[in-house]
Amino acid sequence: MAIANITEEPILTSEVDRRHILHPFTDLSVMEKAERTVIVGARGNYVFGEDGRKFLDGLGGMWCVNIGHGRNEMADAIADQVRRLDYYSPFDDLTTPAMATLAAALARHAPGSLNRVLFTTGGSTAADSAVRIAHHYFERIGQPSRRHIITRDRSYHGSTYLTASLSDRSYCEGWSRESGFIHHISAPGLYRRPDNMSESEFTDYLIEEFESKLAELGVENVAAFIAEPIQGSGGVIVPPSGYLRRMREVCRAAGILYISDEVVTAFGRLGHIFASQAEFGIVPDMITTAKGLTSGYIPLGGVIVSDEIYERMCSPGSYFNTGFTYSGHAVACAAALKNLEIIERERLCEHVRAIGPLFEKKLGELRDLPLVGDVRGHRLMMCVEYVADKTRKELFADETRIGKRIWRHCQKRGLLVRPLAHLNVLSPPLTLDAQEIEFVGDVLRAAILDTADELVREGIKVA
Ligand SMILES: Cc1ncc(COP(=O)(O)O)c(C=O)c1O
Repeated sequence: MAIANITEEPILTSEVDRRHILHPFTDLSVMEKAERTVIVGARGNYVFGEDGRKFLDGLGGMWCVNIGHGRNEMADAIADQVRRLDYYSPFDDLTTPAMATLAAALARHAPGSLNRVLFTTGGSTAADSAVRIAHHYFERIGQPSRRHIITRDRSYHGSTYLTASLSDRSYCEGWSRESGFIHHISAPGLYRRPDNMSESEFTDYLIEEFESKLAELGVENVAAFIAEPIQGSGGVIVPPSGYLRRMREVCRAAGILYISDEVVTAFGRLGHIFASQAEFGIVPDMITTAKGLTSGYIPLGGVIVSDEIYERMCSPGSYFNTGFTYSGHAVACAAALKNLEIIERERLCEHVRAIGPLFEKKLGELRDLPLVGDVRGHRLMMCVEYVADKTRKELFADETRIGKRIWRHCQKRGLLVRPLAHLNVLSPPLTLDAQEIEFVGDVLRAAILDTADELVREGIKVA
C-alpha cells in the first residue's frame, strides 16, 4: 500500500516500516532485509494482505482475537463509548460505569474470592503489578522478608524490566535483568522430560524441586509463585495432570501467594472464561489477564486479587501506590464488556469445548510426518515442535530457522501461524469451525512436507 510522504513521492508501507519501526522480538539485522507482510484488513477468522491475499488467522492476531475480526457491534460499542465519554481518570474517587461494570463481571467469573481488579494497559503491566502487590501485601502483614518470586523456565510474563526477568532467562540474553529476588525452576514439559521418568515420577520430581527451592531460599523469604496454567510462548507446555494442584497446595502450606497468569488462557481459549479453577482445579490468590479480555480490539489488562489480599491492603496506614493513567480506560472497558457479551451470547466457550478435540486430533495426525517431534496443547492453544532427529529429539541448528521456513510455506498456502524458533504455535479465533480445522491441518501438512523436501535439497539431514 502506498502512503503519503510529505516531502517526496508516495512510498510503500513496507519501506516506511523498514526505515522507522522496531518490531517486537525480532533480529533487527535480519529485519533490515526481510520482506514485510502488510496486513490491511480483517474479517471473521481471516486477515487480508495488501496484495489482496487472504489468510486464515491461525494465531488470532497474537493469542488474542478470540471473537474473530471486524465485528460491527464491537466497532459500535467502542464508538458509542467514545461519544459518551472518551476518557476520564480512574484515580482517587473517580470512576466510570464501564470500568465498574467490567470489574463486577470479572469478579463474577473469577474463582474464589477474587473480587477486586486493578486494570492495567496489558499483560506485562498486569504481571508486574501482581508482583508489586505481593510484596506490598507481605509488608502489610508484617512479613517484609518475603521478597523472592519463583517462576519457571520457558515462561513468558511480559516485557517490562520486572516481567522480562520473570520470564525464561533467554528473554534477557544480551539485556539486563533482575536476578536478586527472581528464581527459576523447571518447566513441566512432558516431551523433554528425562527419558526414564513416567509422567507421575516427573510430577513428583517437579514438586520436590519446588520444595527444595523453597528450603534453599527459606520459606519465610518467599512471596509468590507465578505460573501460566499452560505456558504459551515457551511452546504451549501443558503440565502433567495434578501438577498445578500440587504446586498450589505447596504454596498454601508455605504461605506463598499463587499468581496465575491467564493472559492467554482466559476468555475462552481453553473453553472457560478463566481456566485456573474450571480446567485445572486451582483457586489462585491473583489472576492476571489481558489479550482475549478485549479480543485485542483495544489494549487492556488487569490483575484480580482475593478478598484476603484486598483486606490487608486496605488497613489503615496502607497506601495503594500503583496504577496507570489508562487503568480502566472507559473505551477499553466498553470493548471488554461487549467482548464478554459476545462470548456468552454465542456460547463460544461451549463451542471451544466441542471443537477443541477435533483441532487436537487433526493436528495430532501430523505426528507421522518427518520433522514433527511433538504436537501438543489443549483445545484452541496448540503447538507443533520440529526436530532434526525424531528418535533423539535433536533440534535443527538455529540458522535453519525451521519454524520460519514452515511458516513461510503456510503463508503461501493462505495460513498464518506463529514461528517461534523450532515451533509453530496456533491459537486461532474461537469462532473456528470444523472445515477450517481441516484446512489448518492440511496446510500445515503440506507446508511441513515442502519444507522437508527443501531441507533435503539443501543437504540438511532429516531423520
Ligand atoms: C502469559 C503471558 N503473560 C504476559 C504477557 C504480556 O502481555 P502484553 O504483551 O500484553 O504486555 C503475555 C504476552 O504474550 C503472555 O503470553
